[in-house]
Amino acid sequence: MKLHYLKNFIRHYLTATLIDVLHSPFVFDLYQTAIKKQKNISKFNPIENCRSKLLNNQQIVSYYDLGAGSNLLSTETKKVVKQLAKAHLKPARIAQIIHQIILKHKYKNVIELGTSLGITASYIASAIKENYPFNETNFTTIEGIHDVRNVALKQFEELELSKYVNAVEGDFNEKLDEVLSNYKNLDVFFVDGNHTYEATMEYFNKALPKAHNDSIFIFDDIYWSPGMTKAWEEIKQNNNVYQTVDLFFIGLVFFRAEQNRQHFKLRVF
Ligand SMILES: C[S@@+](CC[C@H](N)C(=O)[O-])C[C@H]1O[C@@H](n2cnc3c(N)ncnc32)[C@H](O)[C@@H]1O
Repeated sequence: MKLHYLKNFIRHYLTATLIDVLHSPFVFDLYQTAIKKQKNISKFNPIENCRSKLLNNQQIVSYYDLGAGSNLLSTETKKVVKQLAKAHLKPARIAQIIHQIILKHKYKNVIELGTSLGITASYIASAIKENYPFNETNFTTIEGIHDVRNVALKQFEELELSKYVNAVEGDFNEKLDEVLSNYKNLDVFFVDGNHTYEATMEYFNKALPKAHNDSIFIFDDIYWSPGMTKAWEEIKQNNNVYQTVDLFFIGLVFFRAEQNRQHFKLRVF
């Protein structure tokens, strides 16, 4: 494990606020309804069954590194789906927090950067489906690798979620502007790919004009590298950002101007 990650994990564990001494009603409510381990998680069994199948899936796909690990020499290689599932997929607990946030706030305009095999996208789409089974909603997820996106499309079909996801293929750098132009307001912006300082700041700044008072932006892996932590600290200081909640694995960003500027750290595990 990388030193930066480990050091920050220990620091987070030691400095995270205990929920009993939390003085923000908004964050306390968020904790109770979304962050705290939920009792009824059996509804997630179909998605978790898909995850288990992916973790055993021997299908070989064409793959090349598009994100932070990429360089000019990144060439196409072959990967087994189960390898990708192990490396890419968010723990169920984190995906369930994102699901609960979307469910609780009845969000319907969502963008995810980094579909991968579609597990978190399925959690997002299932929250949208639960709230709006028959209404028009707008959830777009972007993935750059053709074969990987195809595996995700199969998950959406199997889970009867295809209707609730617009899965776009392409590089974030090429597709994000076009996708954003289809949104008047963005409720949720979830960045889970290309974990570099420059890319994270660029995506944040591009999506910011679409944020409203009740939007939430979610950044994955904020302690993955010094660059990601620098981006997280800079986002926290942005004038439009009023509250943040650092869950170590993901960072939540709120724009609620009616409340004091406050930054929280909470433990999820
Ligand atoms: C960590 S995985 C996403 C995991 C997924 N959100 C989940 O929780 O199930 C990141 C994905 O982003 C994709 N990605 C990274 N950089 C990209 C870029 N610049 N354009 C398009 N896709 C990219 C990768 O191919 C990879 O599939």
